[in-house]
Amino acid sequence: MCGIVGYLGEKDAEKIIIEGLKKLEYRGYDSAGLACKIGDSVKILKCKGRLSNLEELFEKDPSSAPIAIGHTRWATHGEPSDVNSHPHFNSSKKIAVVHNGIIENYHSIKTELIQKGVKFVSETDTEVIPHLIDSFYDGDLLAAVQKAVRLLRGSFAIAVISADSDEIVAARKESPLVIGVGDGDYYVASDVLAALSYTKRFYYPENGDVIRISKKNGIEIFDASGNAVVREEKYVNISADAATKCGYDHFMLKEINEQPDACANTILRYCYDNNISLDLKNIKDLSRYNKIYIVACGTAYHAGLIGKIAIEKYFKIPVTVDIASEFRYYSPFVDDRSIVILISQSGETADTLAALRNSKEAGAYVLSITNVVGSTVARESDDVITTIAGPEIAVASTKAFTTQVVALFLVALYFGRISGNISDSQFDECMDELEKIPEKVREVLKNTDIIKQEAMHIKDYDQLFYIGRGCDRVIGMEGALKLKEISYIYTEAFPAGEMKHGPIALIQKDTPAIAIITQKDLAEKTISNIKELKARGAYVIAIASEITEELEKTVDKIIPVPEAFGILVAVPAILPCQLLAYYASIFRGNDVDKPRNLAKSVTVE
Ligand code: AGP
Repeated sequence: MCGIVGYLGEKDAEKIIIEGLKKLEYRGYDSAGLACKIGDSVKILKCKGRLSNLEELFEKDPSSAPIAIGHTRWATHGEPSDVNSHPHFNSSKKIAVVHNGIIENYHSIKTELIQKGVKFVSETDTEVIPHLIDSFYDGDLLAAVQKAVRLLRGSFAIAVISADSDEIVAARKESPLVIGVGDGDYYVASDVLAALSYTKRFYYPENGDVIRISKKNGIEIFDASGNAVVREEKYVNISADAATKCGYDHFMLKEINEQPDACANTILRYCYDNNISLDLKNIKDLSRYNKIYIVACGTAYHAGLIGKIAIEKYFKIPVTVDIASEFRYYSPFVDDRSIVILISQSGETADTLAALRNSKEAGAYVLSITNVVGSTVARESDDVITTIAGPEIAVASTKAFTTQVVALFLVALYFGRISGNISDSQFDECMDELEKIPEKVREVLKNTDIIKQEAMHIKDYDQLFYIGRGCDRVIGMEGALKLKEISYIYTEAFPAGEMKHGPIALIQKDTPAIAIITQKDLAEKTISNIKELKARGAYVIAIASEITEELEKTVDKIIPVPEAFGILVAVPAILPCQLLAYYASIFRGNDVDKPRNLAKSVTVE
């Protein structure tokens, strides 16, 4: 997704912008640019490609400006090109704008402006913004931006500078935006990571807010009606180096190895004295709810499928898990007796956000599980559970998944206990087992050689299948997503019992398959399915928590994982899948952290 950065102060604004944009690279982009105010003019440098191309432009044409804005673009309207890169100018080149989001009504605005004689140079939706601001501009940039954004439909986080004034005006609707407060200087960004090296103090503007930043008056925030409002300043306790690789080759490997601590921190955040406190301020009496929906995308959806098992087991009401982009268009039974749990690492996924709003309109109680404090999903939910995974930079989600499973297990226990469906002894057993999970994850991380070796074996195949039953099937689905999205090997997960109903036609000599076997009661059945694959020449790796003689005789390789309680086994069992994908991607020479075609946060539909 696009990223925006702005700076106003005494430091070298352009350098700060470029450093800030580097911290946003993880969002995925195809071009970058910056604009700075120099005297009574605005200079723009922008180009297609990586940030290094922009740095080359900057080095050829440096200037130490006190005010600047910058942008990394993930193309939605108009192909990646120099002219379509942001920032965009108005006709007089006195107003420059950077934008993250999509202006849904840009066609009608553009048509109207062209009829008034405005000349457009790009194919982007964004370019209507500086021209629209210009149409209201009479020297008061704030007022012009306020009038312009009222006409925009869709999503935007924008930063605007003008040649006529020493200020930055920003505005947001749906897209994320934060305002950082330094030592007499100010930052505007899509994500706190862009400014964490300089400050930990941030404001989180609400939808509709317009913000003016100036040396003279500091930060002034106005709501959608133009009233001056006060927003709470928050202290973001993430270290700047959290956004660096800390010695690992890739963010993904760093984040895989952070999972023991991420799970431990998430447990500690909500558990004390062998009790759970989720601090759900807005939930009504649990007895009024007769159904639960878990709604998410991608990896978060897989975590939801795992969470369903525990919530139905302990809270004993039906749970439907759905993909947000489907749910938002078809969820006929959501009502005021529904609990809708939204899971989103970024808290900015457009489809998940739309599902949230539909659910609230239908009267449901909306609980979100996100990894980003102050994210839009978090702020619009009735209550939020924050996973304490720390920033997840790699596009392939890893520690978010394992901490989401932990959070869902806590929700299941919490609801189960309040509803009286779980005895004290059962609750205590669950809590004891939960506390063992971080160590079980560490155990898997100590023994990765066989995983690396098997990644080398599978790396040249063009297809691979995961099989499993129950919880193991979902672990396979998440493993398949990891492998396909970063190694580009076509990978699909099947219920083990389903192979004979069609998919086994895909198996030929040496076809690689990975069987997940952590559910004791289903192991025998899955081993029978493995034999079906072996009979057709498949090469089968088992990720198993119990190594039996039968299993050793049946499969080609075994990657052991520790046994764990109930759905919690998904936490240690997913690590070999994550690492297989990581190493296969490396061996295929791919960009592990920024795989092709993908973005870290899909803030467009
Ligand atoms: C998973 O590895 C992918 N990065 C992707 O499927 C991701 O899980 C999905 O886009 C949902 O993102 P969210 O959790 O930020 O909403």
